[in-house]
Amino acid sequence: MSVVAVFNQKGGVGKTTTTFNLTAALARVGRRPVAIDLDPQAHLSLALGVRHVTGAQSVFGFFERGTPLGMLARETPLGIQLVPAAPDLSKIDTLYGSDPGITRRLSAGIDEAGWRTKAPVMIDCSPMLGVLTLNALMAADQVLIPLSADYLSLQGVYRISTALDVLEKKAAKRFLRRIVLSRYDARRKLSFQIYRELQDAFPGILCETRIHESVALAESPMHAKDIFTFAPSSQGATDFRLLVQELDAAAFFAGSGCAPDTTHAAIGRFLAVALESSHNGSLGETTMKRPVSHTLFAALLTFLSISAFANLGGDDSSKSDDADFVTGRRAIDALDWPGAVAAMQKAISADPRNADAYNWLGYAQRKQGNYDAAFKAYGEALRLNPRSKSVHEYIGEAYLATKQLAKAEEHLAELNRLCSPIPCEELKDLRRAIDDFKKKNK
Ligand SMILES: Nc1ncnc2c1ncn2[C@@H]1O[C@H](COP(=O)(O)OP(=O)(O)OP(=O)(O)O)[C@@H](O)[C@H]1O
Ligand SMILES: [Mg+2]
Repeated sequence: MSVVAVFNQKGGVGKTTTTFNLTAALARVGRRPVAIDLDPQAHLSLALGVRHVTGAQSVFGFFERGTPLGMLARETPLGIQLVPAAPDLSKIDTLYGSDPGITRRLSAGIDEAGWRTKAPVMIDCSPMLGVLTLNALMAADQVLIPLSADYLSLQGVYRISTALDVLEKKAAKRFLRRIVLSRYDARRKLSFQIYRELQDAFPGILCETRIHESVALAESPMHAKDIFTFAPSSQGATDFRLLVQELDAAAFFAGSGCAPDTTHAAIGRFLAVALESSHNGSLGETTMKRPVSHTLFAALLTFLSISAFANLGGDDSSKSDDADFVTGRRAIDALDWPGAVAAMQKAISADPRNADAYNWLGYAQRKQGNYDAAFKAYGEALRLNPRSKSVHEYIGEAYLATKQLAKAEEHLAELNRLCSPIPCEELKDLRRAIDDFKKKNK
């Protein structure tokens, strides 16, 4: 199953840039991707060189007249099939907001077109919360969340994550999720701090690849060229090649009807080219045209609206095991280590396979100076997810704090293995910490 919603209700974070270049990368390795532009701004359509589309020729025609998606899709020069957008899409909330069946229309349309099992489908969501965005999420098997590396984005991602949890429960489905830092500025300390915080908060979900702020990425859509054509040796091209490889390795585009071996080999070649050849977004407001009286939508809104942030505990579903995890995360934000330990322990007793909860538990215990307990928690996190780089780094640091250099070096060796060929910060950080330790203890 490979329907990916590229979603973040914050504007200007790189959703369209990500959809554009990822679909282009998939096209280059022969995956025949389909891109659906669900944003009335039609930026993805413009980037793909498709202009002056009438409402009827756009995805609006699917919602309004029932035109099959397959008939609306048009071939673009980059080898991407595009279902374009048009400004008329902004009427959808007003026209269909109260129709209870509306939220599953796109999902049914994608199934009808036979794309779910054949093509990787990527949906570029608009920053407005409404019928269109909910359709994208209801249709999606995977959700990719581009996130700019700034403080407010960081706050927003917790809300998005909780909203997706709620949606999963209400719609009885599971999303494979990934977060990608999309406007990373390596010169800013804040960018790195945000990356590290996300690693802690979303281990296994945060992509290791970061898309750096790059002029070429901003310019390429003006020329209707993807980054690989426009500036093949640029940082942006390398980043997107690495991202497609990372997502593919995590089976993010699974089920596209290609033999996996062929695909992996093709993506491997694509990456090889990358290795050889070589952000500020507007603060979009959470907006919605018109409230929709639909339970799923209401749930989504409740969790995504700014005011709901303080009221997360008010929803019935938050009385579940996930609520403990959320409570634990909040306690960590508030530096309430005993509160975090208690909540994470509850989350673990509800779901003993929750590696993230073990990772957080270890973190809070380490902050309390309870290293024995932290080692146990990290050990369990690694048993559940042996490839977690952040756990390897943190447990390594905890070993240094307890003067067990040899053990720390074991985790350094493991990180060395895990961080090849894609370099990672965890390796650098643990190496630096070990060097400092050695200097101090000469
Ligand atoms: N990594 C980057 N480096 C430089 N510029 C970027 C980068 N990513 C995106 N941009 C630029 O930032 C602007 C916003 O990006 P984009 O349109 O992809 O965001 P979006 O999340 O789709 O926005 P919206 O919410 O309005 O749909 C665009 O001008 C784009 O070219
Ligand atoms: Mg966009």
